[in-house]
Amino acid sequence: TDLALIRNFSIIAHIDHGKSTLADRLIQFTGGLTEREMSAQVLDNMDIEKERGITIKAQTVRLNYTAKDGLTYQLNLMDTPGHVDFAYEVSRSLAACEGALLVVDAAQGVEAQTLANVYQSIEHDHEIVPVINKIDLPAAEPEQVRKEIEDIIGIDASEAVLASAKSGIGIAEILEAIVTKIPPPKGDRDAPLKAMLVDSWYDPYLGVVILVRVIAGTIRKGLHVKFMQGGTDHLIDRVGFMSPKIEQTKELAAGEIGFITAQIKEVAQAKVGDTITTVKNGATEALAGFKEVQPVVFCGMFPVDAAEFEKLRDSIGKLRLNDASFSFETESSAALGFGFRCGFLGLLHLEIIQERLTREYDMDLITTAPSVVYRIQLNKSRTDPAQELMLHNPADYPDPSRIEQIDEPWIKATIYTPDEYLGSILKLCQDRRGIQLDLTYVGGRAQITYELPLNEVVFDFYDRLKSISRGYASFDYEQIGLREGDLVKMSILVNNEPVDALSMIVHRGVAEARGRHMCERLKDLIPRHLFKIPVQAAIGGKVIARETIAAMRKDVTAKCYGGDISRKKKLLDKQKKGKAKMREYGNVSIPQEAFIAALRMG
Ligand code: GTP
Repeated sequence: TDLALIRNFSIIAHIDHGKSTLADRLIQFTGGLTEREMSAQVLDNMDIEKERGITIKAQTVRLNYTAKDGLTYQLNLMDTPGHVDFAYEVSRSLAACEGALLVVDAAQGVEAQTLANVYQSIEHDHEIVPVINKIDLPAAEPEQVRKEIEDIIGIDASEAVLASAKSGIGIAEILEAIVTKIPPPKGDRDAPLKAMLVDSWYDPYLGVVILVRVIAGTIRKGLHVKFMQGGTDHLIDRVGFMSPKIEQTKELAAGEIGFITAQIKEVAQAKVGDTITTVKNGATEALAGFKEVQPVVFCGMFPVDAAEFEKLRDSIGKLRLNDASFSFETESSAALGFGFRCGFLGLLHLEIIQERLTREYDMDLITTAPSVVYRIQLNKSRTDPAQELMLHNPADYPDPSRIEQIDEPWIKATIYTPDEYLGSILKLCQDRRGIQLDLTYVGGRAQITYELPLNEVVFDFYDRLKSISRGYASFDYEQIGLREGDLVKMSILVNNEPVDALSMIVHRGVAEARGRHMCERLKDLIPRHLFKIPVQAAIGGKVIARETIAAMRKDVTAKCYGGDISRKKKLLDKQKKGKAKMREYGNVSIPQEAFIAALRMG
């Protein structure tokens, strides 16, 4: 297709503002799918994505649209993930486009996530087409939102399209705006090949499928190519695009977006942001902006039933086939037996993997406290030299007497909230050792910028923020590097035995409060036994908090486990079904939920 007839764009929207619904409408309007095929949202095609209504993997579709000028355009719509955990993938998708539709909910207005993505989009020199969606809602205030887009984002919204993706209003106007406002791509089709690897995923029939944006030259079937960052070479066996059905084509030329396959076995070999060129007479310089993605949040995952270790290995392996950004290695724990230490891009990413293992692979899991990666400088000891180590697991915390310095990762967070929740949010940030950088008011809302230690954020910061703001505050962050911290390892002892799955690295200043809270929680979460159970939090050998679970009274036991056979049987059945999953610690049973529940700060 002639470059002048191509438009590459993405859709920027806050979660739930209607990105997928709009994408579906655009596909329907341009005739990519029949009514029946439209029955399910097409772009969000994973179950969990559907249920949670969030986009995880970027997908792209090619639409053919005959505009009012009588010409038929090739529109490539790039779907981008809608969550902070996947910021790098977003940046690569944006780099593959010349423009973006900015979708803002007419009732909700501009949110922090939207801001972060718009700024990125502007950095990529995008032409931004504002769309005010959900104008069908009774609470819609399109004029106020138009003003917000201008005041907060600083772009002209006078020609913003008023739309309802749900009722199909404004769809034709949006397509016209894409053609008239967003510039066509540039690119020399006779130059050596340079294609950007935008995304990759595993397809059971096609193997690893790679989404590319051709920047220069032409990519075609049979071409011998190399991945400049990955350092591997491959023979291209398919070239095509999604309409959204998979369609094969001879070639993709500069300016176009589509997919290739090249008999690649694992997505790990196809790194997002890599440059693909020909082995012979290829480009000499790779595209800018490549970054190796690194997991930032780690946790242990153990099967509840130790016999399911191999099944867990198998399931994790299968998930990893499709997600190169999560990592795993075997781990063994005194209390939990064999399992895996897994690394994720963020907490949502962790939860997605955990949920997929539970649902798709039917695994019963114990997940240990999430932890970030600490850098520890060790002194020289009598037997070992001074050294530096990266700590992923509190269980590997070294001998404290050898620790010279611990550095922890920090982030810069942007929070956007209606005024009324400001006080509680500032308190939350303050409690989490935050350093306030900025506080500004725009309209009736506040925009707050804080520096925060990542370890104070990973567990439940986002949940807390949502709950204290009744869902109105939005949150976005970027990592800003490591800083020295006064950090210690806090152990939890149940009946005088350390429970390693509950140990965590905490700041000394908050250790006592956190320890007390954990003990109080566990006291409620661990059922009574026939004997008294002390629950303690300790730093080194020093106990900093303590609770006691009273012993069960005799008559209570009798009621539960006495002669009533049918009742006993019911209990056993229930246990079989996995409703009362317990883990034995010495002679104490700890319910599975306790591991995660105890960590929520409440
Ligand atoms: P993510 O995939 O999480 O980024 O969400 P999204 O932006 O794709 O939102 P989605 O399209 O899934 O829409 C979120 C909800 O808003 C759904 O329940 C839609 O039915 C609803 N919705 C989308 N567009 C409209 C609209 O124009 N009017 C109304 N009333 N509801 C809409």
